[in-house]
Amino acid sequence: MKTMTQAPNAKRLTQASTPEALLAFELSGEHETLPEGEVLACMRALEIEHDIVKSGEQCLLLNIGNDPCEISKMLSTRLAMTHHIVSVILKSDPLESSILESVRAAEITVPRGETFSVRVKQIKGSFIRSTRMERLIGKVIFERNIGAKVDLANPDHRFRAIVTKDSCVFGEVLASIDRGKFWDRKPHKKPFFYPGAISPDIARAIVNLCEIRTDDLVLDPFCGTGGILLEAGMIRARVLGIDVQESMVRGADTNLRSHGFEYRLASGDACNLPLKDGSIDAVVTDPPYGRSVVVMAESVESLYKNALLEIYRVMKKGGRAVVVSDFELPWADEVGFVVTGLYKNRVHRSLTRYILVLRK
Ligand SMILES: C[S@@+](CC[C@H](N)C(=O)[O-])C[C@H]1O[C@@H](n2cnc3c(N)ncnc32)[C@H](O)[C@@H]1O
Repeated sequence: MKTMTQAPNAKRLTQASTPEALLAFELSGEHETLPEGEVLACMRALEIEHDIVKSGEQCLLLNIGNDPCEISKMLSTRLAMTHHIVSVILKSDPLESSILESVRAAEITVPRGETFSVRVKQIKGSFIRSTRMERLIGKVIFERNIGAKVDLANPDHRFRAIVTKDSCVFGEVLASIDRGKFWDRKPHKKPFFYPGAISPDIARAIVNLCEIRTDDLVLDPFCGTGGILLEAGMIRARVLGIDVQESMVRGADTNLRSHGFEYRLASGDACNLPLKDGSIDAVVTDPPYGRSVVVMAESVESLYKNALLEIYRVMKKGGRAVVVSDFELPWADEVGFVVTGLYKNRVHRSLTRYILVLRK
């Protein structure tokens, strides 16, 4: 029985034996719940049916329908806080002997003349020795597949074990997220820089949490340098940014200009938006926290209350908003929103961000 699915760069197909596929998402350890929330929100946004098999410990296991390659490809262009998406061949307990026994029992095919690599990711709390494990698994696959060669740099098949403290999943990598691209878009590398801009990986993760679909009209009413708008535009949303400072609007324009998608920018007050009722699909925003960035309102409290009222007014019914702050926004439900998610993101000792997911 063949249980392997095809990697995007695989030269020859190995077929899935059942209509269902098990995917493992190796998640970033930077945050406890946000990476998992991001994957699940993307699954909903892309309308991919799935069952959660296991969650936690930086490894999310999902049962999906057909086409794991296509699905992984779609997800990998959106996700910010996942490292790899793996088509699972086997699960075992996390002991060296059990993993090897399972690998020996599984049918893992590498066609003659093709190359493979084995990598083992040890998640905090597991006791495996990863380099030794890589060598042992590699030896089993090598001995089993005559004519296959090891190539650690650019293999045709990338096998990966994710070992947590209580389990191991092993499979073939279908897609990896190029997280370096997010580093290339760090605020200080953009043509217009202003302190307080959100980092692109967090911006992308919150855009994803908002379950944005292609062509949705997305508003950031505190757009600053345009960091959130850029990430939303890159997943093919139509974006609209508003900021009270003219200089920010011009700066956001400089930052968005070369990215090849359409956007609209205007100067204005988030507490008095120049937009019609029910005209916006989604809002993703990072308002000022009242620390160093300009707050154009009587107080931080009045800014948030009035901006939330306006955000609610301009959004379509059923639409989602993701609002980042350094407190929990006690007024969200007073305004009429249903709070569907809350993530805490500790930035440093004196700043914890609260990421609220709201539904109208
Ligand atoms: C934290 S910054 C946004 C950072 C942004 N996410 C980025 O990546 O650059 C908050 C922005 O809110 C703007 N702002 C302050 N008061 C405002 C108001 N009443 N209406 C609209 N924008 C306002 C500030 O000018 C600032 O650019």
